[in-house]
Amino acid sequence: MTDTNKTTNQQWGGRFSEPVDAFVARFTASVEFDQRMAKQDIQGSIAHATMLAKVGVLTDEERDQIIQGLTEIEQEIARGEFEWSVELEDVHMNIEARLTQKIGITGKKLHTGRSRNDQVATDIRLYMRDEIDFLLEEVTRLQQGILSLAERNTDTIMPGFTHLQTAQPVTFGHHLMAWYEMAQRDYERLADCRKRVNILPLGAAALAGTTYPIDRHMTADLLGFERPTYNSLDSVSDRDFAIEFTSAASITMMHLSRWAEELVMWASAQFNFIFLPDRFCTGSSIMPQKKNPDVPELVRGKTGRVYGHLMGLLTLMKSQCLAYNKDNQEDKEPLFDTVDTLRGSLRSFADMIPAIEARGEYMYEAARRGFSTATDLADYLVRKGVAFRDAHEIVGKAVGFGVKEGRDLSEMTLEELQGFGDMIEQDVFEVLTLEGSVAARDHIGGTAPAQVKAAIERAQAELADRLK
Ligand code: ARG
Repeated sequence: MTDTNKTTNQQWGGRFSEPVDAFVARFTASVEFDQRMAKQDIQGSIAHATMLAKVGVLTDEERDQIIQGLTEIEQEIARGEFEWSVELEDVHMNIEARLTQKIGITGKKLHTGRSRNDQVATDIRLYMRDEIDFLLEEVTRLQQGILSLAERNTDTIMPGFTHLQTAQPVTFGHHLMAWYEMAQRDYERLADCRKRVNILPLGAAALAGTTYPIDRHMTADLLGFERPTYNSLDSVSDRDFAIEFTSAASITMMHLSRWAEELVMWASAQFNFIFLPDRFCTGSSIMPQKKNPDVPELVRGKTGRVYGHLMGLLTLMKSQCLAYNKDNQEDKEPLFDTVDTLRGSLRSFADMIPAIEARGEYMYEAARRGFSTATDLADYLVRKGVAFRDAHEIVGKAVGFGVKEGRDLSEMTLEELQGFGDMIEQDVFEVLTLEGSVAARDHIGGTAPAQVKAAIERAQAELADRLK
């Protein structure tokens, strides 16, 4: 990156009597980070030049020269040969200056009828559209991974928790399908956000529109946007679409952090519910026995920075009067980091989740230990004519006895159970088993293996439909 201070900026230096201070030039420049949008900047410029030629502002020859020059510049950038200059402030002026260097005066005509204000708004939207499309694919891959693990575990019994205390038995497949539902909403939120991203601001120019006979519908079509924006002041100024994206990203990270927390616990020796393949873990330099669940831990930690970016962007936009303000240059770093963080987090989870192995025997043992069928016993008593409150009381006493004796309800004798309620009969043992307990919750959304299989099939059809 060159950083000289010899002349005033060639793109806007006309009215300046002295060069910008070298520090100020660096301080106000964005090229170090906005060069990430070079591809989209060129894409937007090619569409703009094509439209300008169509309406007669450029000749066809000028258009072709511009497109040729921009195409070459794109290759220079891809090859890493492009020399970015801080003095030229941002990605837009770096590319335009290089174009003029390459094709001469015609390069200077490209900026007719537009401003960097609508240009940057267009670039961000193009960039975000590309990224959202990729992220949607990653969420889909993650959902496929969850389904493949769930499919293998429709009958695997584990304790279901509330307050992290054993509550009722559930199947591991059912637990995983809860994750699937969260991911499905994450997908829908991102897809919905894309609709408001995919609108063309170009043509708003600096703030008020332009006097050239531009055809914004044509530019929108060329770039694959749904339509042009309807108000020039709004087009160049609002970054609500970036805030919306970061908010959808925050919610997704929140979900990932919840799953991460469960994976970290489950991988511990105390739970021992899952085996996390070694490739997603690291060791300790001092404790030889250690195998740490780094990937979930790191994703859990990274959630914080995405929330921070959301707060940063909201605060950046707050109180900004119309129209464009330089403040908005600060939208890019949080947005880019949000994209990178979400990409990495989704990727690692999409890779890791289908590779997890459930340790069904430990899950089963844990469910058996925690009096997880106590509700089933209460429901059994209700079926025998006992009022639910009384049934609750009877079972509470039986559990108290079990705690003292170190025995589960299913390990008590019929005589012992009858000591708490004489209506209890031999058939009670059917409801005290874990299998009986989960199979009994046999309605849509319930944990019965049959229902979990149906949920997986529904989800598979949903994904097949999406990928059509
Ligand atoms: N680098 C600027 C940004 O990211 C581009 C637009 C600057 N416009 C201007 N008139 N200074 O927002």
